[in-house]
Amino acid sequence: MSWIVMSLAFICGHILLADSGCPLGWIKDGLSCYHFSHDTESFVIADLLCKKMGGQLAEVNTEEESIFLAEHAANISHKFWIGLTDIDNEGDWRWYNSKASLIQTNVTNWAKHEPDNTGDNENCAILGSHHGLWWDHSCHEFNRFVCEVEDESSVDVFG
Ligand SMILES: *[C@@H]1O[C@H](CO)[C@@H](O)[C@H](O)[C@H]1NC(C)=O
Ligand SMILES: *[C@@H]1O[C@H](CO)[C@@H](O)[C@H](O)[C@H]1NC(C)=O
Repeated sequence: MSWIVMSLAFICGHILLADSGCPLGWIKDGLSCYHFSHDTESFVIADLLCKKMGGQLAEVNTEEESIFLAEHAANISHKFWIGLTDIDNEGDWRWYNSKASLIQTNVTNWAKHEPDNTGDNENCAILGSHHGLWWDHSCHEFNRFVCEVEDESSVDVFG
């Protein structure tokens, strides 16, 4: 489903909310709703599109959330941007929207030997397609992405 259709789903939130309490095309897990995109975008544009839909690139705050995202990405067998980057300060991985550092959130799921900053040019994180483990990639690369709305109340704002 394109992001335009998803935006409409949000604008018409009250009509299109699925049984889960999430907009159609979004998946519920814990207190959040997630949208796994079909289209591919660079990291920054992906976050902008998530915001147009009332969310933001997914931020992993708990081990449970990490496992859900990894498992779903692996199920779909595609790579997905999550909202994690060290673009401001090499090696200082932070969640793009909250600015919380990985040391603060204390949940990681890096693949072996990652992040490795290959070519001195890998500053944004994806869920890999294999086990959903995290890899650093070039932020300019086009990938699918995961948007998150952190609780149902923010969805209702758009209804
Ligand atoms: C992944 O796929 C399995 C098998 O179809 C399913 O049982 C499981 O709920 C899926 N997990 C997620 C997080 O989508
Ligand atoms: C970070 O997580 C680990 C493993 O879950 C835990 O043992 C440790 O106490 C946590 N550290 C902090 C500062 O919360």
